[in-house]
Amino acid sequence: MLNEKIAALLNDQINKELYSAYLYLDFANYFEDEGLDGFAHWYEIQAQEERDHAFMIRRYLIDSGHRVTFDAIAKPDKVFKTHLDPLDAGLEHEKYVTSLITKIYAEAFAIGDFKTMQFLDWFVKEQGEEEKNAEDLIKKMKLFGNEPKGLYMLNQELSARVYTPASQAE
Ligand code: FEO
Repeated sequence: MLNEKIAALLNDQINKELYSAYLYLDFANYFEDEGLDGFAHWYEIQAQEERDHAFMIRRYLIDSGHRVTFDAIAKPDKVFKTHLDPLDAGLEHEKYVTSLITKIYAEAFAIGDFKTMQFLDWFVKEQGEEEKNAEDLIKKMKLFGNEPKGLYMLNQELSARVYTPASQAE
């Protein structure tokens, strides 16, 4: 069994990851509406990855002898004025998720819960990658997204993203 505070934080993180999936699907909805199917596809895959994160944490809690409970998932309520807005919101959101993972890690460290620290190592690395992906996308959008041909090419590039199920073996 895990420390109750760690278990509660991890349980809450499941909700945050499912919200992340919901948020990115909402970004995909926006881009579908804008006719940018490559961007929509990229965020659909991002949503699938977030769902995987939720499943991984759920499995860890269950395998550690805890009952998982669910709360309501918040409504994504962002309004976008430009194509750059969701990209900026995505980076901001990933920084927030990194802060949540870091908080759980710090709690585990404080009580010498090495098992949870080892479990979270994957998430720490993943957050680094997700922040970098979000930053790269913003950079590309600023460089190429302001004229139709550049936006078209970027949309094509993003349509090539392939979903790979997240796993701790990576
Ligand atoms: Fe599951 Fe994008 O963090």
